[in-house]
Amino acid sequence: MLDLFAEAEPWQEPLAPGATILRRFALSRAAALFDGIDAVTARSPFRHMVTPGGYTMSVAMTNCGELGWATNARGYLYAPNDPLTGQPWPPMPEVFQALCHDAAVAAGYPDFRPDACLINRYAVGAKLSLHQDKDEPDLRAPIVSVSLGLPAVFQFGGLRRNDPLKRLMLEHGDVVVWGGESRLFYHGIQPLKNGEHPVAGAFRYNLTFRQAAYKE
Ligand code: SIN
Ligand code: FE2
Repeated sequence: MLDLFAEAEPWQEPLAPGATILRRFALSRAAALFDGIDAVTARSPFRHMVTPGGYTMSVAMTNCGELGWATNARGYLYAPNDPLTGQPWPPMPEVFQALCHDAAVAAGYPDFRPDACLINRYAVGAKLSLHQDKDEPDLRAPIVSVSLGLPAVFQFGGLRRNDPLKRLMLEHGDVVVWGGESRLFYHGIQPLKNGEHPVAGAFRYNLTFRQAAYKE
Protein backbone atom coordinates (compact mmCIF):
# COMPACT_ATOMS: atom_id res chain seq x y z
CA MET A 1 0.00 0.00 0.00
CA LEU A 2 1.19 3.51 -0.70
CA ASP A 3 2.38 5.11 2.52
CA LEU A 4 1.79 8.83 2.18
CA PHE A 5 3.87 9.49 5.28
CA ALA A 6 6.96 7.61 4.15
CA GLU A 7 9.96 9.91 3.77
CA ALA A 8 10.70 10.58 0.12
CA GLU A 9 14.12 9.50 -1.08
CA PRO A 10 16.50 12.46 -1.36
CA TRP A 11 17.09 13.82 -4.86
CA GLN A 12 19.69 16.14 -6.40
CA GLU A 13 19.26 19.37 -8.34
CA PRO A 14 22.23 21.02 -10.08
CA LEU A 15 22.55 24.70 -9.04
CA ALA A 16 25.65 26.08 -10.78
CA PRO A 17 29.07 24.78 -11.88
CA GLY A 18 30.44 23.06 -8.74
CA ALA A 19 27.16 23.59 -6.84
CA THR A 20 24.40 21.07 -6.08
CA ILE A 21 21.25 20.94 -3.98
CA LEU A 22 20.75 17.66 -2.14
CA ARG A 23 17.04 17.80 -1.42
CA ARG A 24 15.95 16.28 1.92
CA PHE A 25 19.42 14.75 2.34
CA ALA A 26 19.51 15.54 6.10
CA LEU A 27 15.84 14.71 6.79
CA SER A 28 16.37 11.25 8.29
CA ARG A 29 19.00 12.69 10.68
CA ALA A 30 17.15 15.88 11.63
CA ALA A 31 16.28 14.83 15.20
CA ALA A 32 19.92 13.99 15.98
CA LEU A 33 21.04 17.26 14.37
CA PHE A 34 18.66 19.21 16.64
CA ASP A 35 20.12 17.35 19.63
CA GLY A 36 23.56 18.39 18.40
CA ILE A 37 22.48 22.03 18.17
CA ASP A 38 21.19 21.82 21.76
CA ALA A 39 24.50 20.34 22.96
CA VAL A 40 26.52 23.07 21.25
CA THR A 41 24.33 25.95 22.39
CA ALA A 42 24.35 24.73 26.01
CA ARG A 43 28.05 25.67 25.99
CA SER A 44 28.23 28.42 23.36
CA PRO A 45 24.81 30.10 23.19
CA PHE A 46 23.32 31.85 20.19
CA ARG A 47 24.19 35.56 20.05
CA HIS A 48 23.62 38.45 17.66
CA MET A 49 27.04 39.49 16.41
CA VAL A 50 27.83 43.12 15.65
CA THR A 51 29.58 43.86 12.35
CA PRO A 52 32.66 46.11 12.28
CA GLY A 53 30.33 48.78 10.86
CA GLY A 54 28.24 48.64 14.05
CA TYR A 55 25.27 46.74 12.58
CA THR A 56 23.69 44.05 14.79
CA MET A 57 22.99 40.99 12.65
CA SER A 58 19.38 39.75 12.63
CA VAL A 59 20.56 36.13 12.45
CA ALA A 60 21.68 34.65 15.79
CA MET A 61 24.90 32.65 15.51
CA THR A 62 27.22 30.26 17.26
CA ASN A 63 29.86 27.74 16.16
CA CYS A 64 31.31 24.32 16.83
CA GLY A 65 34.53 22.70 15.70
CA GLU A 66 38.19 23.61 16.04
CA LEU A 67 37.53 27.10 14.72
CA GLY A 68 34.53 29.41 14.85
CA TRP A 69 33.56 32.50 12.87
CA ALA A 70 32.93 35.72 14.76
CA THR A 71 33.08 39.46 14.31
CA ASN A 72 35.21 41.91 16.19
CA ALA A 73 35.83 45.65 15.92
CA ARG A 74 38.34 45.13 13.11
CA GLY A 75 36.57 42.57 10.98
CA TYR A 76 35.60 38.94 10.72
CA LEU A 77 37.81 36.12 11.82
CA TYR A 78 38.04 32.45 12.64
CA ALA A 79 39.37 31.68 16.11
CA PRO A 80 39.62 28.61 18.37
CA ASN A 81 37.86 30.29 21.31
CA ASP A 82 34.35 31.65 21.70
CA PRO A 83 34.77 35.36 22.52
CA LEU A 84 31.59 35.20 24.65
CA THR A 85 32.74 32.41 26.97
CA GLY A 86 36.51 32.62 26.56
CA GLN A 87 36.43 28.82 26.12
CA PRO A 88 37.14 26.73 23.01
CA TRP A 89 34.15 26.35 20.71
CA PRO A 90 32.31 23.07 21.49
CA PRO A 91 33.42 20.06 19.46
CA MET A 92 31.56 19.22 16.28
CA PRO A 93 28.96 16.54 17.16
CA GLU A 94 29.58 13.19 15.43
CA VAL A 95 26.25 13.40 13.63
CA PHE A 96 27.30 16.77 12.14
CA GLN A 97 30.58 15.33 10.89
CA ALA A 98 28.96 12.22 9.42
CA LEU A 99 26.22 14.16 7.63
CA CYS A 100 28.70 16.69 6.25
CA HIS A 101 30.97 13.92 4.99
CA ASP A 102 28.13 12.05 3.29
CA ALA A 103 26.79 15.24 1.67
CA ALA A 104 30.24 16.25 0.44
CA VAL A 105 30.74 12.80 -1.10
CA ALA A 106 27.31 12.94 -2.77
CA ALA A 107 28.16 16.35 -4.24
CA GLY A 108 31.57 15.28 -5.55
CA TYR A 109 33.88 16.60 -2.79
CA PRO A 110 35.03 13.38 -1.09
CA ASP A 111 38.14 14.98 0.47
CA PHE A 112 36.32 17.76 2.36
CA ARG A 113 37.36 17.85 6.05
CA PRO A 114 35.58 20.71 7.82
CA ASP A 115 37.18 22.25 10.90
CA ALA A 116 34.44 24.84 11.49
CA CYS A 117 30.65 24.77 11.59
CA LEU A 118 28.75 28.04 11.82
CA ILE A 119 25.23 27.59 13.21
CA ASN A 120 22.68 30.24 12.21
CA ARG A 121 19.25 30.72 13.77
CA TYR A 122 16.69 32.79 11.88
CA ALA A 123 13.64 34.16 13.66
CA VAL A 124 10.76 35.55 11.61
CA GLY A 125 12.04 38.55 9.62
CA ALA A 126 15.73 37.63 10.01
CA LYS A 127 17.80 37.68 6.82
CA LEU A 128 21.33 37.36 5.57
CA SER A 129 22.27 39.98 2.99
CA LEU A 130 24.04 38.99 -0.22
CA HIS A 131 27.65 38.08 0.57
CA GLN A 132 30.56 35.85 -0.41
CA ASP A 133 32.08 33.27 1.96
CA LYS A 134 35.64 34.51 1.59
CA ASP A 135 37.15 34.45 5.10
CA GLU A 136 38.53 30.94 4.49
CA PRO A 137 42.14 30.87 3.25
CA ASP A 138 41.84 27.63 1.25
CA LEU A 139 39.23 28.06 -1.46
CA ARG A 140 39.75 24.53 -2.78
CA ALA A 141 37.41 23.33 0.00
CA PRO A 142 33.65 23.65 -0.62
CA ILE A 143 30.90 24.95 1.67
CA VAL A 144 28.28 22.46 2.91
CA SER A 145 25.08 24.14 4.10
CA VAL A 146 22.25 22.29 5.91
CA SER A 147 18.75 23.75 6.32
CA LEU A 148 16.44 22.77 9.20
CA GLY A 149 13.09 24.06 10.41
CA LEU A 150 11.07 26.71 8.56
CA PRO A 151 11.65 27.14 4.82
CA ALA A 152 13.49 30.19 3.47
CA VAL A 153 14.28 31.73 0.10
CA PHE A 154 17.97 31.28 -0.77
CA GLN A 155 19.51 33.61 -3.34
CA PHE A 156 22.44 32.31 -5.36
CA GLY A 157 24.17 34.59 -7.86
CA GLY A 158 27.62 34.75 -9.40
CA LEU A 159 31.06 36.19 -8.81
CA ARG A 160 29.83 39.79 -9.03
CA ARG A 161 27.36 41.27 -6.61
CA ASN A 162 25.05 42.37 -9.43
CA ASP A 163 25.06 39.06 -11.34
CA PRO A 164 21.53 37.66 -11.83
CA LEU A 165 20.20 35.75 -8.82
CA LYS A 166 18.52 32.38 -8.70
CA ARG A 167 15.91 32.25 -5.94
CA LEU A 168 15.02 28.88 -4.51
CA MET A 169 13.17 27.67 -1.47
CA LEU A 170 15.30 25.69 0.96
CA GLU A 171 13.25 23.34 3.09
CA HIS A 172 13.77 21.23 6.20
CA GLY A 173 16.51 18.67 5.45
CA ASP A 174 17.87 20.28 2.27
CA VAL A 175 21.65 20.50 1.85
CA VAL A 176 23.41 22.87 -0.55
CA VAL A 177 27.05 22.27 -1.48
CA TRP A 178 29.04 24.84 -3.45
CA GLY A 179 32.70 24.77 -4.40
CA GLY A 180 35.02 24.83 -7.40
CA GLU A 181 33.86 27.45 -9.89
CA SER A 182 31.03 28.65 -7.66
CA ARG A 183 32.98 28.70 -4.36
CA LEU A 184 32.93 32.52 -4.24
CA PHE A 185 29.46 33.06 -5.68
CA TYR A 186 27.32 35.65 -3.89
CA HIS A 187 24.44 34.23 -1.84
CA GLY A 188 21.98 35.26 0.84
CA ILE A 189 18.72 34.48 2.63
CA GLN A 190 15.56 36.59 2.21
CA PRO A 191 13.65 37.64 5.36
CA LEU A 192 12.14 34.55 7.02
CA LYS A 193 8.37 34.27 6.66
CA ASN A 194 6.20 33.41 9.63
CA GLY A 195 5.32 29.77 10.13
CA GLU A 196 5.30 26.90 12.56
CA HIS A 197 7.58 23.92 12.17
CA PRO A 198 6.69 20.80 14.24
CA VAL A 199 10.16 20.65 15.81
CA ALA A 200 11.79 24.04 15.24
CA GLY A 201 8.71 26.18 15.93
CA ALA A 202 9.00 29.64 14.37
CA PHE A 203 12.70 29.31 13.51
CA ARG A 204 14.98 28.24 10.72
CA TYR A 205 18.38 26.76 11.54
CA ASN A 206 21.31 26.48 9.17
CA LEU A 207 24.61 24.68 9.61
CA THR A 208 27.47 25.73 7.33
CA PHE A 209 30.55 23.55 7.33
CA ARG A 210 33.82 25.13 6.27
CA GLN A 211 37.52 24.44 6.17
CA ALA A 212 38.83 27.53 7.90
CA ALA A 213 42.51 26.60 8.30
CA TYR A 214 44.92 26.25 5.42
CA LYS A 215 45.98 22.64 4.93
CA GLU A 216 48.99 21.61 2.84
C1 SIN B 1 25.40 31.44 5.04
O1 SIN B 1 25.48 32.00 3.95
O2 SIN B 1 26.37 31.40 5.83
C2 SIN B 1 24.12 30.78 5.48
C3 SIN B 1 23.13 30.54 4.40
C4 SIN B 1 21.87 29.94 4.94
O3 SIN B 1 21.43 30.29 6.05
O4 SIN B 1 21.27 29.11 4.25
FE1 FE2 C 1 27.50 32.46 3.40
